[in-house]
Amino acid sequence: MANCEFSQVSGDKPGCRLSRRAQICLGVGLLVLIVAVVTVGAVLWPRSPMKWRGKPTTKHFSEIFLGRCLDYTQIIRPEMRDQDCKKILSTFKSAFISKNPCNITEEDYQPLVKLVTETIPCNRTLFWSKSKDLAHQYTKVQRKMFTLEDTLLGYIADDLSWCGDPNTSEMNYDSCPHWSENCPNNPQKMFWNMISQKFAEAACGVVQVMLNGSRSEPFYKNSTFGSVEVFNLDPNKVHTLQAWVMHDIGAISSDSCSSSSLNELKLIVSKRNITFICQDNYRPIRFVQCAENPEHSSCGSRT
Ligand SMILES: *[C@@H]1O[C@H](CO)[C@@H](O)[C@H](O)[C@H]1NC(C)=O
Ligand SMILES: *[C@@H]1O[C@H](CO)[C@@H](O)[C@H](O)[C@H]1NC(C)=O
Ligand SMILES: *[C@@H]1O[C@H](CO)[C@@H](O)[C@H](O)[C@H]1NC(C)=O
Ligand SMILES: *[C@@H]1O[C@H](CO)[C@@H](O)[C@H](O)[C@H]1NC(C)=O
Ligand SMILES: *[C@@H]1O[C@H](CO)[C@@H](O)[C@H](O)[C@H]1NC(C)=O
Ligand SMILES: *[C@@H]1O[C@H](CO)[C@@H](O)[C@H](O)[C@H]1NC(C)=O
Repeated sequence: MANCEFSQVSGDKPGCRLSRRAQICLGVGLLVLIVAVVTVGAVLWPRSPMKWRGKPTTKHFSEIFLGRCLDYTQIIRPEMRDQDCKKILSTFKSAFISKNPCNITEEDYQPLVKLVTETIPCNRTLFWSKSKDLAHQYTKVQRKMFTLEDTLLGYIADDLSWCGDPNTSEMNYDSCPHWSENCPNNPQKMFWNMISQKFAEAACGVVQVMLNGSRSEPFYKNSTFGSVEVFNLDPNKVHTLQAWVMHDIGAISSDSCSSSSLNELKLIVSKRNITFICQDNYRPIRFVQCAENPEHSSCGSRT
């Protein structure tokens, strides 16, 4: 610029304004301006991802995903150390990225479940319904039992939130569909349905389910267990389903196994040629509950 002004001021050449230098300066200046305006516009222009009522994608989603995947495959179950966590992450994302989050199908997650195969030994599967924390406390102690969240994909995704948006190739960090919204085929629900179904299909021998006896309906038909898992047990592999109906410590303990809710489950299971057994307050799990409430009278601390 200094050179331009200098040549103008000096007036050596009458054609200074149109000198090559000036033209180049002007051209470059204009170009810079245009680029700046376009950049600012692109950044500030709202690309408006769809708005939902549910929690947005968990912050640092990819890092948490990778970290959990490595933790599981390298430390928790080193026999799975050959799994490629980066590939699992990219396959997971391609199920829902750049898609309408109300239009995800189980097919979208098919490549993921094909990629990640994990075998759970017979007699070790534990389903749960409305008793997630207790079920996980139990499998932490009784390490040979597996809930869905003790498998690789369940472990990675537990308590995370995610969705994509048709307008961007990013995950939506502003909001995601809520379970109660009119958007049943959302990426999270389809994921959990898909991996719950696979988990149930793979179960064999005697399988367990932990139910919540402190609820009016310990067996809840609309739950994942009641709507997906029960119906995907393979009667050729599963000969018995055993329900453990756990009551909260201090709550009135009724005989839940003879309730209509449990009868309904028994009917469904028997019709599928699987033997049904029900047990109220299974003792090994009662011990886990009592470990948190050692002073409670029902925990027998006064003996
Ligand atoms: C996608 O972007 C276009 C234009 O930016 C906008 O009109 C449209 O509403 C957006 N779609 C959604 C689903 O937000
Ligand atoms: C949902 O997906 C199906 C098949 O992939 C497609 O035919 C349909 O148009 C999609 N609907 C919306 C609202 O995107
Ligand atoms: C599973 O449990 C049943 C009944 O307790 C037993 O007969 C069977 O041998 C067990 N299978 C395995 C693989 O442990
Ligand atoms: C059982 O359900 C009750 C009522 O919804 C809840 O307060 C309690 O935490 C549940 N128990 C377990 C073990 O999840
Ligand atoms: C269970 O699901 C069905 C169909 O999805 C719905 O019509 C019904 O209202 C649900 N029941 C409860 C108690 O939420
Ligand atoms: C259950 O077993 C009986 C007798 O073995 C058989 O006739 C029936 O088809 C089976 N039902 C189902 C749903 O597999």
